[in-house]
Amino acid sequence: MISIIVAIAENGVIGDKNALLWNIKEDMRRFRTTTTGHPVVMGRKTYESIGRPLPKRTNVVITRSNAEFEGCLVAHSLEEAVAMFPADEEVFIIGGAQIYSQAMAIADRLYLTVVHRDYEGDTSFPEIDYSEWQELSREEFERGEEYDGAFTFLDLARKG
Ligand SMILES: NC(=O)c1ccc[n+]([C@@H]2O[C@H](COP(=O)([O-])OP(=O)(O)OC[C@H]3O[C@@H](n4cnc5c(N)ncnc54)[C@H](OP(=O)(O)O)[C@@H]3O)[C@@H](O)[C@H]2O)c1
Repeated sequence: MISIIVAIAENGVIGDKNALLWNIKEDMRRFRTTTTGHPVVMGRKTYESIGRPLPKRTNVVITRSNAEFEGCLVAHSLEEAVAMFPADEEVFIIGGAQIYSQAMAIADRLYLTVVHRDYEGDTSFPEIDYSEWQELSREEFERGEEYDGAFTFLDLARKG
């Protein structure tokens, strides 16, 4: 199973200058608990933005170059990354925009954190056609422990 996990501003923005635009503890915690124990697949820029392999997860970095990344497997396409794991393993696509755009066609699940504010940034998630997705669960927050704004955890499964 292929799952995308992403935090998106109301206007679709997911990052700026190779960094996240918000710091929401609840979202970080959800990311960690949801992905721990599963493979995580990311683009080279997202890997550089994180700066290290995520612990307790098999990390796969996608690049067109011959670069190596300590503690990570390397793939030269999304297809190659996904083919490293058995079909019954939940593989998490963790960004960024380039990799999400390619993964939307093959994703079975979307774990969204929708941040209910517009942000200015240079990187956006592709348009989601919600008619193709069925809601599995929704958890709404008026504000976070430390983040002064509303956000929603929304889990979706591809219809059919
Ligand atoms: N809000 C969120 O949940 C979230 C999550 C993740 C990331 N982000 C943000 O997203 C931004 C980064 O996204 P991005 O779109 O700029 O970069 P990205 O998708 O992380 O990485 C792009 C790189 O991946 C490699 N790549 C892409 N498609 C490929 C293919 N088909 N075959 C082989 N290699 C391929 C290339 O690496 P090479 O150049 O090495 O060939 C490309 O430069 C940052 O701002 C980050 O903070 C946000």
